[in-house]
Amino acid sequence: MRALQITKPWRVPVHRQQAWPADSVADSRGVRQPPNDLHPVDGQPPLPDLLEVPVPDAMRDFLVAWTPEQLATRADEAIDVLAEATGYGPAMREGSRRQLVEHLTMPGFRAVAILGPLADIVGFGYGYLCRPGQRWRDWAAGAMPVVADRRRWLDDACTVTELQVRPACQGRGLGEAMLRGMLSSAGTRTAVLSTAETAEARSRAWRLYRRMGFRDVRRGLRCPGDPRAFAILGRDLP
Ligand SMILES: CC(C)(COP(=O)(O)OP(=O)(O)OC[C@H]1O[C@@H](n2cnc3c(N)ncnc32)[C@H](O)[C@@H]1OP(=O)(O)O)[C@@H](O)C(=O)NCCC(=O)NCCS
Repeated sequence: MRALQITKPWRVPVHRQQAWPADSVADSRGVRQPPNDLHPVDGQPPLPDLLEVPVPDAMRDFLVAWTPEQLATRADEAIDVLAEATGYGPAMREGSRRQLVEHLTMPGFRAVAILGPLADIVGFGYGYLCRPGQRWRDWAAGAMPVVADRRRWLDDACTVTELQVRPACQGRGLGEAMLRGMLSSAGTRTAVLSTAETAEARSRAWRLYRRMGFRDVRRGLRCPGDPRAFAILGRDLP
């Protein structure tokens, strides 16, 4: 893969001073659109410590919010990014693709992406609102035997389901920018996610989550069909 060039992409108007997400989002080719109904920010006060997404200046124009439909049109490319970032083989890749398509219809689905100079996907992330009956939410609830814990973490929560950056572009703050973007418009009391257990200090994902205030909700969990151990992490949103 070529190195990410930090140049102004064609067809993307410059809104350098505009906070993200403000009154417009960019579509999959980077063209600004009016806000869409699927990511309502109306009636919700801005979330002060997250709203200002600290994207490196030259990258600001490339951080976009996507509707489910927009992500759907680029699902193959997004899965390429995921496979590259995770090193998944064909079976895991196909599983992730099926999961992504299934998640597109989840309530409050929100996606973000970082687009490269030719509007290629450099990274993407998505999440949705937790509701009883969802596979991930019910698995997480099952890992919390104490009712107060379930209420605390899952009653008014969004998940961060995927967050992936192409390996050549990692370590430059892009994952953090996308995560901040997702959390800033979540509108829930908490944000929760699961991630594979690993040596925290050696994992970029863990370092990012810790830096962003995520703390242990549950550790050492098993997930059906996956030999790895997982942790559930969570944080309050302002
Ligand atoms: C996890 C992942 C999404 C994080 O994205 P990222 O862009 O690499 O990570 P960050 O935004 O945190 O940036 C990483 C580094 O850039 C640094 N950084 C932060 N802001 C920066 C900025 N504005 N300019 C330059 N560097 C910056 C951070 O200090 C961080 O340093 P560290 O890795 O030594 O802690 C990405 O590494 C990835 O896709 N990994 C593989 C898949 C994965 O594990 N996904 C998560 C599944 S749960």
